[in-house]
Amino acid sequence: MQNPRLRIALVYGGQSAEHEVSLRSARSIFDAMDRSKYDPLPILITQQGSWYSMPAEAASFDPSVSPARSNRLIFSPDPQHRGFLKVDGESGIQPMHVDLVFPVLHGTYGEDGTIQGLLEMAHMPYVGCGVLASAVGMDKILMKKAFRENGLNIGPYFWFFRAEWESDPDKITAKLKSAHFPLFVKPANLGSSVGISKVSDPSGFEAAVNLAASYDRKILVEDGIEGRELEVSVLGNDHPKASVAGEVISHSSFYDYEEKYLKDTAELVIPAELPAGMLQKAQEAAITAFRAVDGSGLGRVDMFLTPDNQVVVNEINTLPGFTSISMYPKLWEATGLPYAQLVDRLVGLAQERHREKLTIRTDRKPV
Ligand SMILES: Nc1ncnc2c1ncn2[C@@H]1O[C@H](COP(=O)(O)OP(=O)(O)O)[C@@H](O)[C@H]1O
Ligand SMILES: [Mg+2]
Repeated sequence: MQNPRLRIALVYGGQSAEHEVSLRSARSIFDAMDRSKYDPLPILITQQGSWYSMPAEAASFDPSVSPARSNRLIFSPDPQHRGFLKVDGESGIQPMHVDLVFPVLHGTYGEDGTIQGLLEMAHMPYVGCGVLASAVGMDKILMKKAFRENGLNIGPYFWFFRAEWESDPDKITAKLKSAHFPLFVKPANLGSSVGISKVSDPSGFEAAVNLAASYDRKILVEDGIEGRELEVSVLGNDHPKASVAGEVISHSSFYDYEEKYLKDTAELVIPAELPAGMLQKAQEAAITAFRAVDGSGLGRVDMFLTPDNQVVVNEINTLPGFTSISMYPKLWEATGLPYAQLVDRLVGLAQERHREKLTIRTDRKPV
């Protein structure tokens, strides 16, 4: 008998500012999945956080489609339930079999370790980074500490809690004496450039901090780095590999939300044209950054290449945009790994990580 197809839950949407981007990423993955191997099952998390199973068709990823109330799901953290339970008014609660989850969720409650924690509790195999890498990759301050500890170049920065700003703003503004404008003021835990301001002189600092503080309890202030913006895709578990580098050429004052999703002005150059030896340097930095946060599966590492050829690492995204025209898969395509095969590799890596976890003891009986 033939092997049954793997039932893969594509969990998408989510309680995040990046909800709609997730619909597009999930649609691309759904379209690319080889139906002889996989049986993809779309599962929508609404902006309000409710879970629904959706028909296995492309229309399920349309932002204007509402889920049927009768297709409500519960995700149980009890491993005996094997994850998903269907809430059916007539027959009560029914288990719904799924072999593996592909969380295609960007930003909060998806890329930050929260759903990964739920999947871990249920012993459900899943694609991508675990709880720690996701959470560290989401917090730009802890991420920098992990990068620096692992010998990566990062730019000058300082950070503070919103409560400190509220109680003693002068103490914070005093730090501007040793900072170099323009500055980038950011909420520590967000993505898609939301809440980020570029500040060119001290008069703009207060408004920028207030904006960032409306999104997070922790605020990060970085010196602006002069340089080209490069991105490198990483794939793997214990032996991660790096793709060729891509370059983002922004035509705004920086690569902001509008340019990422609303306007078509930013250019993505794949592969980036680099001076001799720089590709290798960028790839090494990407792999070091991935390992620094203990990444698994995938990650896109974003960095600056300064005029004197220094690589300054900006961030890792543990669930980068995944539409067929997104940088992460495009970089792999340019490295010789087409989109559908990339999905295969990610599923394989998720299975490998899951098998490894099964070998880890959770008791303390003598051997
Ligand atoms: N220190 C910096 N120097 C120069 N440009 C920066 C700096 N920090 C951020 N930027 C610009 O702002 C964009 C968004 O910042 P980033 O830290 O990547 O946040 P996000 O997680 O929202 O993508 C970057 O792609 C870059 O264009
Ligand atoms: Mg970024």
